[in-house]
Amino acid sequence: MAVVRIGVLWLSLPLTLSMVLGLSGCGEVRAPAGEIHKDDVVRVRKTAPVRRAVDPEQLAARLIAQQPGWPGDRPLVAPRRRSIRCKQVKCVALTFDDGPFDYTGKVLDMLAEHHAKATFFVVGQMVNPQTSLFLRRMVSEGHELGNHSWDHPPLTSLSHDAVRGQLEHTQQVVKAVTGATMRLLRPPYGATDAKVAEEAEHVGLAQILWDVDTLDWRDRDSSVVARRASDARPGSIVLMHDIHKSTVDAVPRLLSELQVKGYTFVTVSELYGTQVLAPGKRYAGEAGEDENDKKRS
Ligand code: NI
Repeated sequence: MAVVRIGVLWLSLPLTLSMVLGLSGCGEVRAPAGEIHKDDVVRVRKTAPVRRAVDPEQLAARLIAQQPGWPGDRPLVAPRRRSIRCKQVKCVALTFDDGPFDYTGKVLDMLAEHHAKATFFVVGQMVNPQTSLFLRRMVSEGHELGNHSWDHPPLTSLSHDAVRGQLEHTQQVVKAVTGATMRLLRPPYGATDAKVAEEAEHVGLAQILWDVDTLDWRDRDSSVVARRASDARPGSIVLMHDIHKSTVDAVPRLLSELQVKGYTFVTVSELYGTQVLAPGKRYAGEAGEDENDKKRS
C-alpha cells in the first residue's frame, strides 16, 4: 500500500512541478547582472507558490531505500576531471537548469554522441526514483551537477534560514543518490543578493550565472534556441532548460554548429581550469567583463 502511494506521488510530482515551472515561465530573465524585476517576483509568487510537497529527508531516505546498497558497496565512479586549457582552446560551458526531467536522458545521449560535457543545475524537488538515475548517469559520464534550489523560488525573497534550507535540502538529496557534493549554485531567475551570497558561501557553493541566455523558456522554437546558443563566444556559459522539449530538440544542432566552429564542450569547473571557484562569489563565464567586480565597485 505504501509503495502504491509513493508511486502515485512520484507520478504526480514531475507533472505538478513542470506545470508550476511552465506557468512561471521559469524565466531566468536577468542575465549576469543578477537583478530581478519586481514584476517577475510578483508573477512568480502568484504562479509558483513555494510549497514543501515532499520532505527532503524523507525523499532521500526513500531514494536510498529503493536503491539497495547505495551508497556504499556500489559507489559511482566519476571519470577523472579533464585538464583542458580553456585559455588556449575555445571552450563553452553548456548548462541545463530545472531538471532532472523526462527529457534529461535524451540530452545525455546527445551529449555522449558528441563527447560533450555539460553542467546540470538540479531542482531538488524534481529528483525521484526515475530521474535520480539521470543524476547518477551525469556523474558517471563526467558531467557536473549544481544546485538550483529545492523548489525554484527567487531566493532574494526568502529569509536567511529559508535560503539555507533551499540549498541544503537539494545538497542532501543529490548527495544521497549520487554520492556527489555539489560546489555550484545557480540562483533561480539569477536573483541574488548579499544574503544569498552569504548562504551560498556557508553551504560551499559558488554562484554561477551566464553570459548567453537562449530564452528557451519563453521561445519554444528549437531553431531559435540553437541559433542563440551558437552565438557563444570562447569562455561562454550558455543558459538552457532541459524541461522543454524544444530545447532538447535544439541540442543536436547547437552541438554540431559549435563543434564546427571549433568549440570544446566543458563543465563549468573545467571552464575555469585551475582557478578555484570561491563559495559565495559570482561567476558568469570568461567571455565578457566580470560583472561581479563591475557591480560591486
Ligand atoms: Ni530555473
